[in-house]
Amino acid sequence: MDKFSFGLWTVGWPGRDPFGDATRPPLDVPLAVRKLAELGAWGVTFHDDDLVPFGADAAEASKRVSAFRAALDETGLVVPMVTTNLFTHPVFKDGGFTSNDRSVRRFALRKVLRNLELAAELGAQTIVMWGGREGSEVDAGKPVASALDRYREAVDTVAQYSVDQGYGFRFALEPKPNEPRGDILLPTIGHALAFISTLEHHELFGVNPEVGHEQMAGLNFVHGIGQALWQGKLFHIDLNGQKGPRYDQDFVFGQGDLLSAFFLVDLLENGGYDGPRHFDYKPLRTEDFDGVWESAAANMRTYKLLRERAAAFRADPEVQEALKYSGVYELGESTLNEGESIADFLKADEDFAASTAAERGFGFVRLAQLATEHLLGAR
Ligand code: GCO
Ligand code: MN
Ligand code: MN
Repeated sequence: MDKFSFGLWTVGWPGRDPFGDATRPPLDVPLAVRKLAELGAWGVTFHDDDLVPFGADAAEASKRVSAFRAALDETGLVVPMVTTNLFTHPVFKDGGFTSNDRSVRRFALRKVLRNLELAAELGAQTIVMWGGREGSEVDAGKPVASALDRYREAVDTVAQYSVDQGYGFRFALEPKPNEPRGDILLPTIGHALAFISTLEHHELFGVNPEVGHEQMAGLNFVHGIGQALWQGKLFHIDLNGQKGPRYDQDFVFGQGDLLSAFFLVDLLENGGYDGPRHFDYKPLRTEDFDGVWESAAANMRTYKLLRERAAAFRADPEVQEALKYSGVYELGESTLNEGESIADFLKADEDFAASTAAERGFGFVRLAQLATEHLLGAR
């Protein structure tokens, strides 16, 4: 079965934005679970506050969790990932783990630690950490080195607690360059990977990149995912759509840079990623609930169509030949010969003529066109 999963906050987004009120009423959680299952989803994910409203008492919490559990049992949907909301309540206006207010940092850290217990009970394997409020608008107010010290202290503590409790979680940091903060810490996949290398339990940490977030930073998402996979750090992924560097659009997957979505699916399917295909999108504010369910289905349908087109692209003999012509297979060969010493290497290839080699055409245009034609169903 395809591992398609959705955040409760995606289909449940009521359409409130900075300029306008909600256009849809709140969505009942068990109903969301049933609808997603009906549409063919495999998993559902949530923030603590999506399930149990901030500040609810113990009785209310257990009522909500039981209703959720009943819907999971009834539908067979799994909970592969859980995350903690450290951004909605005004107390987090200057961040959670990196708030300048130490008492807020202590509150945020406890909120995450407590959420681990619920995540474990529901069988989640991955904990996502999106630090949406961990950032600043005023550089003088947030020295990055101190903020990263506090960020590291917090995530090291969370990982240590997971180890101590025997939860066995893996943690996935989700980069984003800005919004809601003017600038967010760990803004890109590259920043997050570099930060992870400094952690005490770095082996338990990977990334949860989101299509739109890297594109907001003007970056090539497929390259970012390529590097995360290469480093063994693609622990989770947020699929959606975005039209270039602007506000976070969270469109349906494929709505935006469709060619990039094609190469992304090709990479996920052939590059050794077997984790959830998690959709983190927002149904357009213009839609009623019919449109919400249509948008949920559209994510999965587009993914499957792109997978089909990518498979056809790979299987086309002309594509294989074009890949060969372009040197794609040659790039897989090491540059030095096996056992070649640096001294031998320096003496070798003395007849290499740069001017002759410079005459080679790489045929990338043909490859690009073949991909476009497969994407369009023209081959
Ligand atoms: C965004 C973020 C969020 C996070 C989610 C997990 O669109 O800015 O992706 O949706 O992924 O809240 O914490
Ligand atoms: Mn987003
Ligand atoms: Mn996301």
